[in-house]
Amino acid sequence: MKVLVIYFSQSGNTRKVAHSIAEGAREAAEQVDVKSIKNVTYDMLENYDLIGLGSPVWKADPPNIRKFYKEAPDQNGKHIFSFCTHGTMPGFYFPVVLPNLKKAGFTVIGSRRWYGNVVMPGMPEPYYTAGHPDEIDLEEARGFGREMAERSRRIYEGETQLIPPMPENNVNQDQAVAIVNMLLEYGNPQGKIVRDPRKCIYPKCTRCMDNCTMDYIDLSADPQKFGSEGKCCNDNHECAWCFMICPTGAIRLEPDIMEHIKPFIGVRKPLFENILDEAEKNGEFRRLIPVEEVGFDTPYCLAHPKRPYFKVPAKPKED
Ligand SMILES: Cc1cc2nc3c(=O)[nH]c(=O)nc-3n(C[C@H](O)[C@H](O)[C@H](O)COP(=O)(O)O)c2cc1C
Repeated sequence: MKVLVIYFSQSGNTRKVAHSIAEGAREAAEQVDVKSIKNVTYDMLENYDLIGLGSPVWKADPPNIRKFYKEAPDQNGKHIFSFCTHGTMPGFYFPVVLPNLKKAGFTVIGSRRWYGNVVMPGMPEPYYTAGHPDEIDLEEARGFGREMAERSRRIYEGETQLIPPMPENNVNQDQAVAIVNMLLEYGNPQGKIVRDPRKCIYPKCTRCMDNCTMDYIDLSADPQKFGSEGKCCNDNHECAWCFMICPTGAIRLEPDIMEHIKPFIGVRKPLFENILDEAEKNGEFRRLIPVEEVGFDTPYCLAHPKRPYFKVPAKPKED
C-alpha cells in the first residue's frame, strides 16, 4: 500500500497534523509520502493507492483545495481521506469538500478534523483554540492515519461495507448564518490589500510570492503581478497572509488595519463563545486556555504591532 498525504497549511497547524497522520499510516503501509499541495501534480496520484487531503477551514475550503478537486481528472474510485484544522466554525468544510471529492471520482473512506490556533489580523490574541494542535491531537492524528491505511487495504480486499456514508449536513445554525453573512459581503472582509512598491525590497525578499496560496503574486513579471490590484484575492475568504508576513510594511490593508479592526472588537464574542461552549459540552473541544484569558480586546495585530506581524522563513520549508 502506497499513501500520499497532501496538505495546504498557512500558519503551520495542518502541516503538523499531516505529518502525524503520515507517521501513523507508516505503521500499516509500505510507503507514505507527504507533500505540500503546491508540489503535487495529478500524474503523481497514479503512483498511490490512498490519498490524504488536508487543509485549514476557510469558511469552507481555500481556493487551492477547490481547484484541486474541480480540475482533477476522473479518479476512478481511488481511495481518499479528508482532514482539516480549524478555529471556531468548521461546519461548512466537510459538507462542501466530501461531495466534491466524490464528484471527482474518489472513494471517500474517512474524514476527521482538529482544532488549531487562529492567526488573523483582527482575531483575538490569544485565541480560544490557542495551543491546538497539541500532543493529544497529534496522537489522535497518528491513530487516524493508521486507521485510514488499514481501512483502505480492507476495502480494496473487498470489505466495501467499510466505506462510510457521507456525513449528514448538520451544520450548526449559528455557524451557518454567520458564514453566509460573511460570504455575502462583497470582497475580502479584511479590506483591500494594497502594495506600495516604494517600501518593497524585492528581489531581496520574496516572502509574499513564496507564500501566496494561489500564486497571485509575481514580482518577477513585467509588469509586476500583485493579486489584490484585481479582484482575485476576494475568493480567499479573509486571507491577508501577504500583509501579515511582509517585513517592511509594503503591503497594507485599506481601510487602515487599526480602523478596520475597531468595529469588530467584541462583535463576534457571544457567537464564538456559544459555539465553543456547546462543542465543549459535546466533548468535541478541549479548552487549553480559560475563556477569561482570550484576548478579545487585543486583536492579533494590536498584540503584535511590529512588522512582520507573523514571521515566516525567507525560504519556505516545503515538503
Ligand atoms: C482566511 C482564513 C479564513 C478562516 N476561516 C475559518 C472559518 O471559517 N472557520 C474556522 O473554524 N476557522 C477559520 N479559520 C482558522 C483556520 O482554519 C485555523 O487557524 C487553521 O488551523 C489554520 O491552519 P494552518 O495553520 O494549517 O494554516 C480561518 C483562517 C484564515 C486564515
